[in-house]
Amino acid sequence: GADQSQKSNVRVRCSNKGSYGFPGLKGQKGSKGDTCENGTKGEKGDRGDAGDPGVDGEQGDKGEKGDIGEKGKGGRGAPGKKGSRGAKGVRGDTAKLLRSAFSAGLSKPFPPPNVPIRFDKILYNDQEDYNPSTGKFNCSVPGAYVFAYHLTVRGRPARVSLVARSRKVAKARETLYGQEIDQASFLTVLKLSAGDQVWLEVARDWNGVYVSAEDDSIFTGFLLYPDVGDD
Ligand SMILES: *[C@@H]1O[C@H](CO)[C@@H](O)[C@H](O)[C@H]1NC(C)=O
Ligand SMILES: *[C@@H]1O[C@H](CO)[C@@H](O)[C@H](O)[C@H]1NC(C)=O
Repeated sequence: GADQSQKSNVRVRCSNKGSYGFPGLKGQKGSKGDTCENGTKGEKGDRGDAGDPGVDGEQGDKGEKGDIGEKGKGGRGAPGKKGSRGAKGVRGDTAKLLRSAFSAGLSKPFPPPNVPIRFDKILYNDQEDYNPSTGKFNCSVPGAYVFAYHLTVRGRPARVSLVARSRKVAKARETLYGQEIDQASFLTVLKLSAGDQVWLEVARDWNGVYVSAEDDSIFTGFLLYPDVGDD
């Protein structure tokens, strides 16, 4: 220290100046110094540059079903325009199905007995429910029917029966002989089902039903009104 350097200064002042001494030997390495205290914390650095975008992640799982949305607030639209008129439909056949009528005359006198009389001169038979080759009317429209005949009788007696469903539902007799001419007429209403058959017939030896250029014998039938519903 300080005391030692004052003593050597006094010694130098009292002696003559000598020659230079040899340099001293290199000293030994000193012991390690005390550990310094940590410095104060530095200032916060500037913000770094933005990094590169990361790699895409894997697709996530499907989410749960969402709640039902609210009803939209739009008002009701205006009514659409009226469509154009459609094409006319094909004619139905109901009217035709509900028609039935015939009228037919005899072409030869004295028809064979106990079989349907074949009135073969057709006056009307549009629906062909009457068959001129058998003399039978065949019901195709169920309902109430009018049947009528107007027969000329000449020279012999006549016994005429209206047959419906194989039963004689109306009978009439005319008794005359010689050249006398008379007419026999009849009219009735019958209820028929589909497939029922109606005809006229004469009895043996009572078949004086006649026809000539001046005398007709005519059998007529027509639908008065059809059944409705399922009765
Ligand atoms: C200096 O900081 C270091 C690291 O934080 C720590 O391990 C060490 O004990 C500290 N020294 C002093 C003297 O506080
Ligand atoms: C009679 O009319 C019915 C009903 O339409 C029909 O089924 C039947 O075949 C007809 N029968 C004849 C002989 O024409």
